[in-house]
Amino acid sequence: MRFNVITLFPDMVAEALSYGVIGKAIEKGVLALNCINPRDFAGNKHNRVDDKPFGGGPGMVMMYDPLHRVIESLKQQADVGEVVFLSPQGKQLNQSLCNELATMKCLTLVCGRYEGVDQRFVDEHVDQEISIGDYVISGGEAAACVVVDAIGRQIKGVLGDGESAMNDSFMNGLLGVPQYTRSDLLGQSGVPEVLLSGHHQAISAWREKQATTLTELKRPDLLAGTSESK
Ligand SMILES: C[S@@+](CC[C@H](N)C(=O)[O-])C[C@H]1O[C@@H](n2cnc3c(N)ncnc32)[C@H](O)[C@@H]1O
Repeated sequence: MRFNVITLFPDMVAEALSYGVIGKAIEKGVLALNCINPRDFAGNKHNRVDDKPFGGGPGMVMMYDPLHRVIESLKQQADVGEVVFLSPQGKQLNQSLCNELATMKCLTLVCGRYEGVDQRFVDEHVDQEISIGDYVISGGEAAACVVVDAIGRQIKGVLGDGESAMNDSFMNGLLGVPQYTRSDLLGQSGVPEVLLSGHHQAISAWREKQATTLTELKRPDLLAGTSESK
């Protein structure tokens, strides 16, 4: 899967996504990450990409022209896919939206800065707006990294163990189960006995029960079907 990230801080995004399973997947070419700086498309003498808002008010706004040129250039390469604007005003990201987006071949993520982007760009080019939560951060880069990571890990070949994404919280409407491993300090004390029994059926049954119990306790909304994460 290919991710285009339109950002004034391409190094920030490339660096943040260069670690762990996502970093390895990009290195191996299972995921493609293409960070594009609208400043390279400014088309003016001082490479300006922002200006004061019409009507006055504090802060600056990302200008239409550079962003429009980036999209047109991606379109010429037939490489734009679904255009997503990261925005606190968008639909809140959850697992089912990630799973849906993971079926696409290409996503173009637009990171705002300052007071946001010229609305005419959103109206003309954006297919959907996605928020990572009801709070405001200073730029779309951190949100874009969340989107790439959450979607990227659904893509075949990204996780070492192809099964492990399926056991994650939210994948089957339940939370994930508690995990235990070797400890020199604690030995095996506090580890549920069944996990040491070697009985795979009993372990599966215990995990299923744990997932339901934990979900009832921590996220009853998931079981009641009232959560937007379902
Ligand atoms: C300082 S914010 C601008 C917020 C804007 N003035 C508003 O009230 O909606 C700058 C950029 O950060 C990104 N951003 C901020 N909060 C976000 C969130 N919760 N989810 C996704 N992106 C966010 C957006 O790209 C936004 O354009």
